[in-house]
Amino acid sequence: MTPPATRPLVAGNWKMHKGPREASVFCDAFAAALEAEPAGSADLLLFPSAVALGAVARHPIVERVGVGAQTVHPEPSGAFTGELSAEMAVDAGATWALAGHSERRHVFGESDADVAARVRACLRAGLRPMVCVGETLEERRRGHLEGVLRRQLEAVLPPLDDTAADAWAIAYEPVWAIGTGETASPDDAREAHLLLRRVLGDHGRAVPRILYGGSVKPDNAGELLATEAVDGVLVGGASLDPASFRAIAGASDPR
Ligand code: PGA
Repeated sequence: MTPPATRPLVAGNWKMHKGPREASVFCDAFAAALEAEPAGSADLLLFPSAVALGAVARHPIVERVGVGAQTVHPEPSGAFTGELSAEMAVDAGATWALAGHSERRHVFGESDADVAARVRACLRAGLRPMVCVGETLEERRRGHLEGVLRRQLEAVLPPLDDTAADAWAIAYEPVWAIGTGETASPDDAREAHLLLRRVLGDHGRAVPRILYGGSVKPDNAGELLATEAVDGVLVGGASLDPASFRAIAGASDPR
């Protein structure tokens, strides 16, 4: 098994927040915050709304921060009103895309096969997919943690057959910790991340960076980023504020 990259990846998922003007205001403030106090050791990435992708991608902040789409449609173009293709996301300046975020799975009904189709679309267009996996509280209580994570991860492995470990990532986001203020303990995160590594090892795959997501805030980011097998964080609510996202980005720096 290849060891994962050592530079942590700190990513912000803006969900359905911020249009292009608000995104530019954020980028101005975030750039100023980084200039005042650089977040040295982390790679940074933002997933703005589709309509704000271009605004972030054209902002000078992209010298320091990567940009990704929150979801893409499997097809490159066509009669799919309201959808965004991976090719269009690339045209807007994206280099990454989320696939299988729990809100896409649970609110919009995306199946494991749908997620795999979106991963395939990312790779076709040259986007790096960040595949989100995670169990619900009910699944955890019934002891299905391993089964759920294994099923969700194995579903995307065929399209990722020839993909280098640094050209994709996994985000472990327990559904019960997303937007709830409940954070998985470092032990919970370690257990799930090691389990994901084991699944990859069973398939002879190199290990990409595995991020933790779910109620990550400035005051718990340091502990999570220091946890064994946690290679970064995917931040929702706390990524909307430039100061708090800056604090999380710097949480992996030595003090
Ligand atoms: P949260 O969201 O940080 O607001 O819990 C995380 C996510 O959904 O990616």
